[in-house]
Amino acid sequence: MKILVTGGAGFIGSWVAERYLQRGHEVVVVDNLSTGKKEFVPDGAEFYPVDIRDKKSMEDLFREKKFDIVNHHAAQSSVAVSVKDPFEDFTNNVYGSMILLEMAKEYGVSKFIFASTGGAIYGEPEKNPVSEEHKLEPVSPYAFSKMVFERYLDYYHDVFGISFIALRYGNVYGPRQSPFGEAGVIAIFSYRMLKEEECYIYGDGDQERDFVYVEDVAEANVKALELLFNSDNLCFKFNIGTGKGISVNSIFKILAKRIGYDRKPVYMPRREGEVYKIYLDSKKAGEVLNWKPVITFEQGVDKVVEWFKNEGSEKT
Ligand SMILES: NC(=O)c1ccc[n+]([C@@H]2O[C@H](COP(=O)([O-])OP(=O)(O)OC[C@H]3O[C@@H](n4cnc5c(N)ncnc54)[C@H](O)[C@@H]3O)[C@@H](O)[C@H]2O)c1
Repeated sequence: MKILVTGGAGFIGSWVAERYLQRGHEVVVVDNLSTGKKEFVPDGAEFYPVDIRDKKSMEDLFREKKFDIVNHHAAQSSVAVSVKDPFEDFTNNVYGSMILLEMAKEYGVSKFIFASTGGAIYGEPEKNPVSEEHKLEPVSPYAFSKMVFERYLDYYHDVFGISFIALRYGNVYGPRQSPFGEAGVIAIFSYRMLKEEECYIYGDGDQERDFVYVEDVAEANVKALELLFNSDNLCFKFNIGTGKGISVNSIFKILAKRIGYDRKPVYMPRREGEVYKIYLDSKKAGEVLNWKPVITFEQGVDKVVEWFKNEGSEKT
């Protein structure tokens, strides 16, 4: 298959691109390097440093490359940034995404995978773990943008016959995640603890998230590709998580012990737009996609710490 991976120089997209290449697919990466890094684009992928909002360049690429499928990971991916600058979030996550969908329609690309959010799209859940049937009550511009684009996918499926799978991720963590953003607590704590710097916890630290390891997430993208090419006329939304919540305080303790960090965390006011407790029921992904996470939290955390001890400090 010839696959367009947007955001393939970013944290998750680079792992997805790598997995697809390992499976023998052709991969074209488009990324404007706003948060991504050129060195994360895997060897063997063709790379275009283009912004998805640049309609003319995107159209030239679609015309020339004749993709079989779009895998869309490029985004403004921070809740906090979306609260500070909702317009920038909108132009990336809604307008930019719409350009891809429109190009897919115009150039006959009938399959689409979308990196959506399980951690933010439901808002504060009535109960955990939350399934895909739960009502969507996003509380941040970032989450609105993901919900709105899912709705456009529904529409383009119903009206123009584009099959799609939206993968609603929990909190993804792993090597290559930036420790300088406002999300990605495992990367941030690992990096700062290894450098003996202060670690900040926003709110009381008892907030819980579903932490899912990035290679498990990349595998979900492989399964989604397989499903889209084995059947027609699909429209699915899957939660991709572990079904367990882990608090920020527990993460702090686990990492401090693992790294030998003996300072206390610094507590800061809770951040706007963030959900307090959420973890995901991914039964549907198990049944339909044949996906389940295989990396335990301890294994995943070890891989992150090792990465920051070795190449991560220079590469971030
Ligand atoms: N990290 C998580 O926990 C998580 C959870 C749920 C969903 N997601 C989604 O997964 C995707 C990847 O997230 P990530 O954590 O790897 O973030 P990331 O910031 O590392 O990756 C996003 C990539 O997109 C690129 N990009 C941003 N805007 C672009 C534009 N207009 N044109 C071209 N490229 C652009 C960036 O340079 C970056 O390489 C995003 O869509 C994000 O919303 C992430």
